[in-house]
Amino acid sequence: MYTRRALRWALGPLKPVSSCGQKGQVRPFVQTVAQTVAPRASSLWEDPLKTFRKITSGSEVQDPRSVSLPVPFKTNGRDTSPPAFGKLWLRDNCQCSKCIHPDTKQRIVDTFSIPQDIDLLEATAEKDTVVVKWSDGHVSQYPFYFLRQYMRNREPPKKELNSLRIRPFEPYTLGQHEYPTVSYSDVMANDIALYGWLENIYKWGFCFIKDTPVNPEATESLLKRIAFIRTTHYGGFWDFTADLTFKDTAYTNEFLGAHTDNTYFTDPARLQLFHLLSHEHGDGGASLLVDGFQAAKTLIEENASHAKTLRLISQPAHASGNENHCITPSRQFPVFNWHPDMHYIYQIRWNNYDRASKWDWTIDQQYKWYEAARHYDEILRRPNMEIWTQLEPGTALIFDNWRMLHGRSEFTGKRRMCGGYINNDDFLSRYRLLKFGRQHVLGNLGNIKHRETNPFNFV
Ligand SMILES: [Fe+2]
Ligand SMILES: [Zn+2]
Repeated sequence: MYTRRALRWALGPLKPVSSCGQKGQVRPFVQTVAQTVAPRASSLWEDPLKTFRKITSGSEVQDPRSVSLPVPFKTNGRDTSPPAFGKLWLRDNCQCSKCIHPDTKQRIVDTFSIPQDIDLLEATAEKDTVVVKWSDGHVSQYPFYFLRQYMRNREPPKKELNSLRIRPFEPYTLGQHEYPTVSYSDVMANDIALYGWLENIYKWGFCFIKDTPVNPEATESLLKRIAFIRTTHYGGFWDFTADLTFKDTAYTNEFLGAHTDNTYFTDPARLQLFHLLSHEHGDGGASLLVDGFQAAKTLIEENASHAKTLRLISQPAHASGNENHCITPSRQFPVFNWHPDMHYIYQIRWNNYDRASKWDWTIDQQYKWYEAARHYDEILRRPNMEIWTQLEPGTALIFDNWRMLHGRSEFTGKRRMCGGYINNDDFLSRYRLLKFGRQHVLGNLGNIKHRETNPFNFV
């Protein structure tokens, strides 16, 4: 990816180096910064929004609150100036063991005891670390990989209000792919199989787990391989029959249209697992999955303004079926939820059963929303969007509730089903650590770039 880019050393703002020999090679050096390179303005702290870039005889003078460090970086051909770090940020983000606890990885530096006008006295590159001496007497250490992270992320992303991208995903196409499937014993036995399972869930939105022992205990252990089970007003791990213990359509034997769960929560569960333990004296009850992202993509292609409406107009939701509950999210959410850092749609909330009455909209907005929602609903019901399967004892199903809608056909007889929810953050923690390893994940904290190598690109 970087073959045409030059590798450069940042040697400080006033000593740009035009060339450093062959690609991939870096000449060793030690840099000492005696003092701030730009003249100090007396009004330095008066106007924090003022930028200090001045053009003097063709070369740029940096903001005196910033400093360049001796860390090798790759340029993209256009931006060849060494990246500048804010001094206060740099001091606050010291990576030494007095500032970041080596065991807990927590920040232990007393941020607000750092002088606001902290200055850098000396910066030296040693192997793969930059050592910095500060005016408050502290000596800091910054690994190169940590500093490069800042270089990659220093430009805040532009707001893309009209963009309608969706997070990268793979749509399952009927007849073109086998169902994503893993085996219970593999997943329980080793972390590579566990990672394969989580990768399937993230990529396809769902996965079957065959050879699952037909009992609630084994099913619960299977879920706990990912993380602890999320407890809700329905309990933790559920084991239920259609008896309306909870006053919710899910606990009946009626047809259940495609929906996502937990639209009434501020933070809906990310994963949901079902395992049919038995079905006696009847039939029916086929399971339905619909890829909400694929349907959103179709909507964007067919009518972008409908998609925009579902992105911008929020709806209230509630769960009030049982006497002592009235659960609502902390605010209204739209159907298509937009990730403010990653700039794409990352979560679908679609549950007509749990939608509450919306008051805060004009008649114009009402007609606009109903028209857009009707279009999305029509797409969701197209036969090529529906994935119908018949659950069987021994094969559990797990899916991404932030993406896949689920439902089921009506059934007769008595079904016993067990399963549970897992939180988003716990799922992603497990997934990213297995995919990238702990060191790489920790080295990318705060990274919001769209890169396959960035663990936080996976949301
Ligand atoms: Fe549901
Ligand atoms: Zn430190």
